[in-house]
Amino acid sequence: MAAPDSRFVRACKAMAVDRTPVWFMRQAGRYMAEYRAVRQKHSLIEICKNPQLAAEVTITAAEILNVDAAIIFADLLLPLEVMGLPFHFSAGEGPIIERPVRSHEDVARLRTDSAADLGYVSEGIRLVSTHFGTKLPLIGFCGAPFTLASYMIEGGGSRHYINTKKMMYSQPGNWDELLRKLVLVTSECATAQVRAGADVIQVFDSWVGCLSVEDYRHYVLPRTSELVRNLKQSGAPVIYFGTDTATLLTSMKETGADVIGLDWRVPLDEGWSRLGNDGAVQGNLDPVVLFSAWKNVKLRAQEILDRAAARPGHIFNLGHGILPETPVENVKALAAYVQEYSAGARFHLK
Ligand code: CP3
Repeated sequence: MAAPDSRFVRACKAMAVDRTPVWFMRQAGRYMAEYRAVRQKHSLIEICKNPQLAAEVTITAAEILNVDAAIIFADLLLPLEVMGLPFHFSAGEGPIIERPVRSHEDVARLRTDSAADLGYVSEGIRLVSTHFGTKLPLIGFCGAPFTLASYMIEGGGSRHYINTKKMMYSQPGNWDELLRKLVLVTSECATAQVRAGADVIQVFDSWVGCLSVEDYRHYVLPRTSELVRNLKQSGAPVIYFGTDTATLLTSMKETGADVIGLDWRVPLDEGWSRLGNDGAVQGNLDPVVLFSAWKNVKLRAQEILDRAAARPGHIFNLGHGILPETPVENVKALAAYVQEYSAGARFHLK
């Protein structure tokens, strides 16, 4: 941990700050010309596996946007490879896992002894945290057991998660063994990220919103809580994010995560109130709003900041990642606007 007193880390702990910290999920990505230039020469996986390149992409995005936190450039799916499941990204189709996990034998074969092979992620973190020092906190991340399991079982992205739910319902022993293995590997990998200099860990459970509350509580909450407990032992605050989670929020809070990431479907103050108006929340502008005129972006950002009412523990973000065609000027202006408006709001409250 390099910047434990930064406003972003303080906000994660629901402590008072001078203005609302802001960063964006997927802040390094195809919407940014500088990233596209690197991608012309290297594949996504090459960038991830080369600590120098990963650090460069991470630093460039954070500096261009002038946000309050950097997020290490890596991918959610990297642990699949060290567990023995090769995958690749195909243009237009997203990730493809070559041999999806469907049977007891498939789960039994998955390795949990090679998380150290993800050392290139920690190496990139070391470079970024040396670059920024105490000036800018750095976020490390990993996938949550449900979302990673869904990629492993479906073999890629999915609409209805049929194979995933089928395993959950009809092979519960197998399902739990898979989640247990994922918790082992992601705990080790994210803990190594904190040792290398990450200040906060974000756990992405991007697709968990496809579950009913009952199924979430029965099949997912226990192992996800175990992951959060393991990560908190590192001393870093944990952000737990998913989409379509309005009905799951109180259960997600039970994992013990310090910050709950809200998507745009729930009004920020309503989501926070469901969480007991306690702890910290992150969010939650609809990423598609960034495609509209600046006047509208500004208005919608202001609405979110007004709902947060300068209470300690709000981190401004989008409700999901920045999309590839997003106008970069709106993203830059949004970061600056959140910083300026939230500083003013605190001034007026005094
Ligand atoms: O600044 C950042 O946030 C970048 C680091 C980052 C990436 N992936 C790089 C990446 C992070 C935090 C992720 C997380 C990730 N990866 C998630 C969870 C976040 C979310 O959006 O819900 C998921 C589900 C993945 C798996 C994944 N990786 C998918 C579904 C895709 C899309 C495939 C496509 O073609 O759009 C990726 C590719 C990927 N990972 C890109 C980036 C910047 C796309 C750009 C590229 O191909 O260069």
